[in-house]
Amino acid sequence: MSDVFVQPVRGFSRTIECPPDKSITHRAILFNAAANGKSEVKGILTGEDCLSTIDCMRALGATVEIVGNTARITGTQRFRSAPLYAGNSGTTMRLLCGLLAAKQGEWTLSGDESLSARPMRRITHPLEQMGGMVLSQNGHAPLTVRGTQLHGIRYEMPVASAQVKSAVLLAALGAYGTTQVVECEPTRNHTEILLEQMGVRISREQNALSLQGGQSLSPVCVTVAGDISSAAFPLVCGLVTGGVVTVKNVGLNPTRTGLLEVFDSVGVAYEVSDVRTSGGEKTGTVTVKNSGHGRGFSIGKQIMPRLIDEIPVLAVLACFLGSESVITDAHELKVKESNRIAATVRLIRAFGGIAEETESGMVISPSGGLQGGCTFHPAGDHRMAMAAAVAAAASKQGGRVCGAECVRVSYPDFWQMLAGERT
Ligand code: S3P
Repeated sequence: MSDVFVQPVRGFSRTIECPPDKSITHRAILFNAAANGKSEVKGILTGEDCLSTIDCMRALGATVEIVGNTARITGTQRFRSAPLYAGNSGTTMRLLCGLLAAKQGEWTLSGDESLSARPMRRITHPLEQMGGMVLSQNGHAPLTVRGTQLHGIRYEMPVASAQVKSAVLLAALGAYGTTQVVECEPTRNHTEILLEQMGVRISREQNALSLQGGQSLSPVCVTVAGDISSAAFPLVCGLVTGGVVTVKNVGLNPTRTGLLEVFDSVGVAYEVSDVRTSGGEKTGTVTVKNSGHGRGFSIGKQIMPRLIDEIPVLAVLACFLGSESVITDAHELKVKESNRIAATVRLIRAFGGIAEETESGMVISPSGGLQGGCTFHPAGDHRMAMAAAVAAAASKQGGRVCGAECVRVSYPDFWQMLAGERT
């Protein structure tokens, strides 16, 4: 593959199944692989990030058999010492550190160049406060976890991060006493939902979660909901090209639906149907129809965790809106798979749009669409590659996306979906 030229499209219209949720797939596999017994996780995402989690859990001694889109898991509670490679996946590395911190053994976790540049003090700090030993290279991977006895703490999270919350909660399972995690803003709650299904008692008081140590995990069979962060690409592609897009089985957990809140605020018409709840996660079918150019949006601190991964593609949408869009309090974007503030501004400008980087985000001015006729290098960042593809499809001249295979991290069928080869 490598480079893909995306032709301009008018009226991109598709009815598709939503790719499975990456966050839920990681958790369902990782937690069940650490549980006492057998389980099946259906409808898993077989993207590269989730394969990294599967490889790590196998290296630790769990059995994870993949048959189609089902993972058959036999968990283990005694983890073998083995080198653990998390690839591009921050979720794998951060959650594993929490899981291993109170176990017996020593492990070294490494990742690719992008993951090795991402901040890890956010997990080593709270784990150290719990008495844990996690050695880093100046706050970066490779990390060495020396399992030891932990004790509970009250941890006020300085960043809104579900990965940090999850790492602390996993460590708390094996700690003495109670751990309390206080969130500065509510983040995705898939960890809490799944842990409770696995028999863990968690209590909530406003923005604080408390978990008593000494609890073990009972295996649970789950079916993974669709990933709204992946659905965002075809949905926005429909909007900016004047088409009709239906995505079935989209995860609608309220901690993830910031995208729909933005659609509401700009005045985009969309429909949600076939709503159901399975395994504590709400899902539904989402249909968007281009309803003319809405007004610009303004997004900041409170909504950020509910749409953090959707910002690059929302910025593409902003180029087609009738007034300025402003994104603030998006510092976290700088430490994703790439610096997504800089990369998004670079993308918009390459396609002929108007974007300015600000201290904590960006401002995108309406440009009445995009010209295209350019080449974009996503630097291995899957969400930047897919946002560029949407920009190219909606532009006058189309555009080239280099290193296109990076979409395998979260949306392996993305290019087939775009070409209309997959439903
Ligand atoms: C994730 C949480 C988010 C998100 C990432 C997946 C998770 O990161 O950006 O793609 O599965 O917990 P942070 O928790 O670091 O904000």
